[in-house]
Amino acid sequence: LARRVAYLLLVLAATPAGAADATLAYGEYLYRVGGCENCHTDRDASGPVLAGGRKLVTPHGTFLTPNITPDRETGIGAWSAADFVRALRDGRSPAGAHYYPAFPYTSYTLLTDQDMHALYAYLMTRPAVRRVNEPHQLPWYARSRAALRGWKWIYFRRGPFQANPDRTGVWNRGAYLVRAAAHCSECHTPREPLGGPAILTRYLAGTADGPDGSAVPNITPDAQTGIGSWTRQELTEYLRSGMEPDGDFAGGLMAEYIDHGFKHLTVEDRDAVAEYVLSMPPIAHQVEESDAEERGEFD
Ligand code: HEC
Ligand code: HEC
Repeated sequence: LARRVAYLLLVLAATPAGAADATLAYGEYLYRVGGCENCHTDRDASGPVLAGGRKLVTPHGTFLTPNITPDRETGIGAWSAADFVRALRDGRSPAGAHYYPAFPYTSYTLLTDQDMHALYAYLMTRPAVRRVNEPHQLPWYARSRAALRGWKWIYFRRGPFQANPDRTGVWNRGAYLVRAAAHCSECHTPREPLGGPAILTRYLAGTADGPDGSAVPNITPDAQTGIGSWTRQELTEYLRSGMEPDGDFAGGLMAEYIDHGFKHLTVEDRDAVAEYVLSMPPIAHQVEESDAEERGEFD
């Protein structure tokens, strides 16, 4: 607690009046858009917010998310801001262990230092909950964190985000939100057998094997297989309310991310996201229903 208070005092002292409030408010904004609560809360079991325990089922095992409340023993309450930045920027724990990419630090690494500090400041204001982390349930080949070094060498590109000077400020803001905080690509880009995203060939082109076994649609502007027929307004409306152009509503994980996250985007930011997404190269890729969906496990 002392360290947390010291940090907040530091923020307060170093910034003009009102700026500390603005930092916390912006931290909360990134927290929502980043979906931290979605993964770190066991909503199915009405578990305490951010105390972890949600199961993430992947082809490489089942991950149980950790407690990221400011509890000192079981959460991240004893972490410094630098520890937190290192987790998001480098995918490493305070002790230096590599994190599994089930934690989308592969996207969060693109956040700016300033935005990571805002997130940290906000998280440290959340209620501390005592809840001991449970071990992941992984096949033998995925149990060694040391092996993640090789994985990172192939797939991980350390941030922060670099703006593209040939594009507008709005486009770059959209790129930052989509690639860093909102991590759209973590779900919408298909994964190669080692679990890394096929960024170079299938960026945002959808997959039948998305998180929790659900299919994730192609959101490149391909006319037949993607969202090429959607207008910018239709896309912003979808990110606000979940309503598709044909009047249907978003389901599954996307509904959760809209409800707890994307609907909080400012009008300008939602518009920037839409500009960026619709400017991507169209990729023809028909996403089939996943096996789980055929069995009727999703509506
Ligand atoms: C898609 C699910 C998912 C989302 C979204 C997510 N996390 Fe996590 N996070 C995980 C998983 C899984 C781990 C455990 C990784 C491991 O054990 O290697 C983790 C680990 C962490 C850790 C390390 C905790 C520890 O005890 O070592 C921190 C810190 C963290 N996440 C912060 C965040 C923040 C901040 C956000 C939002 C910006 C966020 N996470 C969003 C899945 C997620
Ligand atoms: C946690 C995984 C996840 C994340 C993150 C995510 N999506 Fe989705 N998205 C999905 C799923 C699953 C669906 C299918 C929803 C359904 O079945 O109705 C979907 C559907 C969509 C659709 C509807 C496409 C169609 O043809 O119906 C759009 C558009 C979309 N997402 C855009 C985005 C954008 C933009 C972002 C980032 C700002 C994003 N998504 C982040 C999982 C995700």
